[in-house]
Amino acid sequence: MKIGILSAGGDAQGTNAVIASIVKYGLKFDHTFIGFLRGWEGVLDKDYIELDREKVRGISHLGGTILHTVNHGRFSAKDHAGGSRVIAFEILQEAKNNLEELGIDVVIVIGGDGTLSGAYQLAQLGVNVVGVPKTIDNDLANTDATFGFHTAVDIVLEALDRLHTSAYSHNRVLFVETMGRNAGWIALHAGLAGGAHIILLPEFPFEHSKIIQKLRERKEMGAQFSIVVVAEGAHAKNESVSMVQYAGNSEKRMRGISEDLIEEVEKLAPGEFEMRNVVLGHIQRGGAPNAYDRILSKSFGVAAIDAVQQKKFAYAVSLKNNQIITIPMSELIDKQKSVTPDSLAYQTAQKIGIYLGE
Ligand code: F6P
Repeated sequence: MKIGILSAGGDAQGTNAVIASIVKYGLKFDHTFIGFLRGWEGVLDKDYIELDREKVRGISHLGGTILHTVNHGRFSAKDHAGGSRVIAFEILQEAKNNLEELGIDVVIVIGGDGTLSGAYQLAQLGVNVVGVPKTIDNDLANTDATFGFHTAVDIVLEALDRLHTSAYSHNRVLFVETMGRNAGWIALHAGLAGGAHIILLPEFPFEHSKIIQKLRERKEMGAQFSIVVVAEGAHAKNESVSMVQYAGNSEKRMRGISEDLIEEVEKLAPGEFEMRNVVLGHIQRGGAPNAYDRILSKSFGVAAIDAVQQKKFAYAVSLKNNQIITIPMSELIDKQKSVTPDSLAYQTAQKIGIYLGE
């Protein structure tokens, strides 16, 4: 079969390993491959490259995606806040026509909630698609992990270890802002691993007064510094996530909250704490995948070809209890996996006295 591959949405470490393992394993079945450039835009513009053994040689350890990507282009079925939207029928039809013109039998779609939602809408028109879940946020229900997540946690951890020495030296409170959109997995795992004293998550709205109380308690214990890890989607009780819309762009984006936190703590406890904030941003998405993510990515790519062989279209690969399975794509979309009070990392953090909001 002639198989199209695309990666869309935010980049995540391991995407190239997925692409390489799809091609390496798929060639054994005499499939041929093309890679659409810039995610779904490449399908709409018929912009692609041929993919063969040579093209994917030596890419598995590289971060990013050799096919490039677009977050929220013409084919986006999600907005930046994670809200669903239906893709215009003419866009879906144009994509289907282009795929038929190019003789594509199956499209393997590597993406997060928005990208897979778009793939699912295209599948409703009879296009053969297989999904590979991708996001550093790890916020997709029905898969135990997505590649990119563990590498992002490692990157935040490395930053926290460095920030500890600076905060300690200056007797400061450092607010370290992580990605994760509306889920707190990166902040929770990295914060727990990195010895944070406060971890603020989207799922557990916080009270400024309790942040101040925790900081004061630490001072009374003789700890003159604190590390606060705050997910970009965290917010105070009775407040909503801080969003911003840039001129000329229809997309609203998360504005980040760490600056506001400093301002509010200063207002409520003037002069009590010397504070700084660090926004880790896209560092969390950059660089090489770690060992765990390289193995997960390669396993996902191989499983995607097995799904093609079994003609499991409108299905996606998924990690369940350390096994790679295939599940209906509909089970991966519009179902965010949120941090819950019974999450192991949440329980552990709570029991060792980290303030987690609420
Ligand atoms: O979904 C992955 C992610 O990194 C989120 O954690 C973050 O909010 C968003 O993408 C940032 O999107 P962009 O790269 O378009 O700014």
